[in-house]
Amino acid sequence: SGQSFPHAGRRKPFIGDLGVSDPRHPLLSLLEWGADLGPIYEMRIFRQNFVFVSGAELAAELCDESRFCKALPPAITALRHYAGDGLFTAYNDEPNWQLAHELLMPAFTKSAMQSYHPIMLETAAELFDYWDRQSGPVDVTRSMTKLTMETLSRAAFSHDFGSFTTSQPHPFVGAMVRALETGRRKGGLLTAPGGRLIGRYLDRRNAEQQAYVDKLLDDLIAERSGSDDQHDLLGIMLNTEHAETGEKLSALNIRYQILTFLVAGHETTSGALSFALYYLSRNPDCLAAAQREADEILGDDPAGVPTFEQVPKFRYIRRCLDEALRIWPTVPAFARSPREDTTLGDRYLMRPEDWAVIVLGQVHRDPAVWEDPDVYDPDRFLPANVKQRPAHSYKPFGAGLRACIGRQFALHEAVLVLACLLHRYDLAGDPGYELTVDERLTMVPQDFEVTLEPRRAPV
Ligand code: HEM
Repeated sequence: SGQSFPHAGRRKPFIGDLGVSDPRHPLLSLLEWGADLGPIYEMRIFRQNFVFVSGAELAAELCDESRFCKALPPAITALRHYAGDGLFTAYNDEPNWQLAHELLMPAFTKSAMQSYHPIMLETAAELFDYWDRQSGPVDVTRSMTKLTMETLSRAAFSHDFGSFTTSQPHPFVGAMVRALETGRRKGGLLTAPGGRLIGRYLDRRNAEQQAYVDKLLDDLIAERSGSDDQHDLLGIMLNTEHAETGEKLSALNIRYQILTFLVAGHETTSGALSFALYYLSRNPDCLAAAQREADEILGDDPAGVPTFEQVPKFRYIRRCLDEALRIWPTVPAFARSPREDTTLGDRYLMRPEDWAVIVLGQVHRDPAVWEDPDVYDPDRFLPANVKQRPAHSYKPFGAGLRACIGRQFALHEAVLVLACLLHRYDLAGDPGYELTVDERLTMVPQDFEVTLEPRRAPV
């Protein structure tokens, strides 16, 4: 909009601020670069200006759904090559967003979790068996990614990738992640001179991976067409029609949705679990409190598991997850556009074609809202403390209509798994480990290992 925002250092001709961004760690370099720039700042890369919001007050304004809505910056539109008008990558006014949202909402309510609960327990049990067969420390993120990938594929389309019977992840997972990573990189290039050409080159180089992913999904969909069961997400998508219009999702759109759920739903939850375990291993008091809660609810048998109704009772364990997602929101940012011309913070004119990126890693550590923001303290999420904070100061699942549809799924799974894990094992992290964060599609701890000791039932 012709206004200028703070930015750091000297901007280079032509590439702008590109040099400050490490392509393998775009977000971590952004956090560092933007650390002292105040609540709003901009980065220019080739011809594209990126406006970033890191202050809680401006972010809260952007989350006000009456004035702002979801925006799709280049990194997200680049994913449309793979995920089309699936829920995550659809434009706000695309008809398939509304249709899919209405057809799928019932499958993601709190009560719908009842049908996924046994799948989550079964997958967790397989993870524990897998760990019990290993000797030495286990890689937390890798294990959790296997777990969340299995849970999601079983709940979404009753497919078992056999993740716990091999040490390597299923080739599908690698192909999917590589294809999408290419998409994300392409997103950063689109505004560069020649960027579209480079993008097409990347797509071609990636075509084989993508064809493999698409075929696997199309085969799964074809196998199930013709049966009228609705026991999983795929069944619901194939066999329900809109109550008023009678419309159904097309086979292509169903493929987009499944890919979207797999991607949106597995690394995000895996990262949340992994960061929570990292902080628990570093904070013995929190670990003891979490374990005490698990024992109180699950009883004497270390192999005890919760009923569906018990899962929301793990209040402390839930706070441990909330706090991990505060410090390391695994979806690190999302973007918002004004519905009409408006002024952000009484100062910055924004038009509907403008957008700003909310940098959650900074908003969740804004010292105006969070005391000692780098300290891990689950009690920040005690109800009395939550009530004292301004609205929209904690947004790991996004905002408004386009907020995360899988929030209940993620939280039910993560609480259940943490509770069972802490009840079953004592865990110790390597005291020499220094947290490093791997940026893939989302943020996850890298090479973090724990040693697990089975706990014994009292005799
Ligand atoms: C959207 C975070 C788990 C499916 C979002 C958004 C965020 C988010 C921030 C909004 C993005 C935007 O505004 O552009 C997370 C986190 C998770 C998680 C932190 C785990 C801890 C899941 C799971 C699923 C899922 C388990 C599926 C089972 C989706 C979908 C959308 C979405 C489909 C797009 C919704 C729409 O636009 O209609 N998620 N998510 N997510 N998430 Fe999640």
